[in-house]
Formats: sequence, C-alpha cells, structure tokens
Amino acid sequence: MMRIPFIAGNWKMNTTVHEAEELVHDMLERLDRIEGVEKVLCPPFISLPTISELLKGSSIKLGAQNMHFEIKGAYTGEISPLMLRKLCQFVILGHSERRWYFGESDKIVNKKIKAAIENGLKPILCVGERLEEKEAGRTEEVIDKQVNRGLNNIKPTRNIVIAYEPVWAIGTGKAASAEQAAATINFIRNTVSKLWSKDIAQELRILYGGSITSSNIAQFIPQPEIDGALVGGASLRAEEFLSIVSQTAAIKGISLPAERGKL
Ligand code: 13P
Repeated sequence: MMRIPFIAGNWKMNTTVHEAEELVHDMLERLDRIEGVEKVLCPPFISLPTISELLKGSSIKLGAQNMHFEIKGAYTGEISPLMLRKLCQFVILGHSERRWYFGESDKIVNKKIKAAIENGLKPILCVGERLEEKEAGRTEEVIDKQVNRGLNNIKPTRNIVIAYEPVWAIGTGKAASAEQAAATINFIRNTVSKLWSKDIAQELRILYGGSITSSNIAQFIPQPEIDGALVGGASLRAEEFLSIVSQTAAIKGISLPAERGKL
C-alpha cells in the first residue's frame, strides 16, 4: 500500500497577515515544484483568506489550526466548519496545546472531527502523551484512549490524518527517537485497525510531530511507518520548511504527477 507522504506546517499563534504573506511568497514557487509529497500550510485563521488566494493554482494545500463543532450560533470568538470549508481542505484537531491550555477533552475533539468530516474538511487528529505519562509507562494506554475516544462513532474514512505528537517533544528541541516514534505510530495503526479495519488503517497517513527540523527529518522519514511530519517552529522559516519537504520527497522517492490546480 503506497501512502503519499505528508508534511504540514503548523504556524500556531505566529505571523501577522503581512508576515504570513511574506513567508508564503518566500517559499511558494519552490514548494510548489516539489512533487510526491502532500504539502499543507496551517497559518492563523485571520490569514486564511489571503493565503488561500496566494495558493490558488498551486499544489500546496491549506489547513486551519482549530474549529468549533457547531455550524453557527452564539459562540463568541469561535470559527465554524462552514466558515472554513471554502477556504481550506484540512483542519488540525486535538492539538495538545488545545487539550492542555484550553481544556479540550476527547469528547470535544470527537465532536469536532465529526463536524469537520460532515463539512468536507479533512481532520489532522493529534494525539500524544505527556512526560509524566511516558515516564510512568502509560504511553500506549493514553494513545489508545485518545484514538478510540477521538474516533468514537465516526464512520470509517480515509479522509483523516493522524499526528503522533508526544507533548514532551513539542517545542523542546528534544524530538523522540525515530524508532520510538515508529513504534508508537505502529501502535496507532493497530488501534485504528481494530476500531475500523485493517485496510483503512493501512491507508491512513500517520505523522510524527515534535521538534522536527531540517537537521533531524532524515532520521524519521526512512521509517516505513512514518508517513511525514507535523512541523511547528521550523515551518516558520522558509528555507527550513523547504528543506524538510524536499528531504522527505527525496527519501520516500514516490514519483507522482503534480496535483496542479487541484486546490
Ligand atoms: P515544534 O515543531 O515547534 O516542536 O511543534 C510541533 C507541533 O506542535 C506541531 O503541531
């Protein structure tokens, strides 16, 4: 089963609209030319309309970083799937920063995943254990819960990406080892296989995220279980992100027709 490698940049709460535009300008042409990798940028909400225009006709896709589960209503400050569906293809859901800073439970993440799929958006579901959970040997237990609860009552679909992001590796410069990441990703695939089916589990892209840079990406990508990366800090620098994507293309070596104009 060939899974198209996937690299997404999660810009988090960084870049003004102007800075976001500049960052896209700096990498657009070169990023567009890299084939064989699905490339996704996830800027802040406020930049989505501008960036969506800039990416039109290119092979680069757009994602949001969060979303409410209702279509509309009295939810001050929130953004709905209806507002996003014409602007982007992906939406990051259940990121650990949402879970731990904003109290998002698995139940809320599950509602968001349901809403995203119903509205034609592809969720990037993030799961990962905290340091104390890892040290207590509870990684698999935590991941098992997050995957099973996050996907509870969701109709099996290939239109979802999962990102394994151990909380202790995010923004710390201490990435997991490639072997550790591959083992947990394998565990995630088995969990999805039991919940949905072996076939779908084999087709889902499962990424690693946490302190990925242009200097360590080449350790992760050769692992057959690891289908790409969700990149935080390093995705804010054009040269870094380009290097991560082109190394991934070179290592996975899948040659595909360019998906031009398919935004
Ligand atoms: P860093 O790459 O900055 O560690 O962030 C990872 C992340 O949280 C991506 O969603």
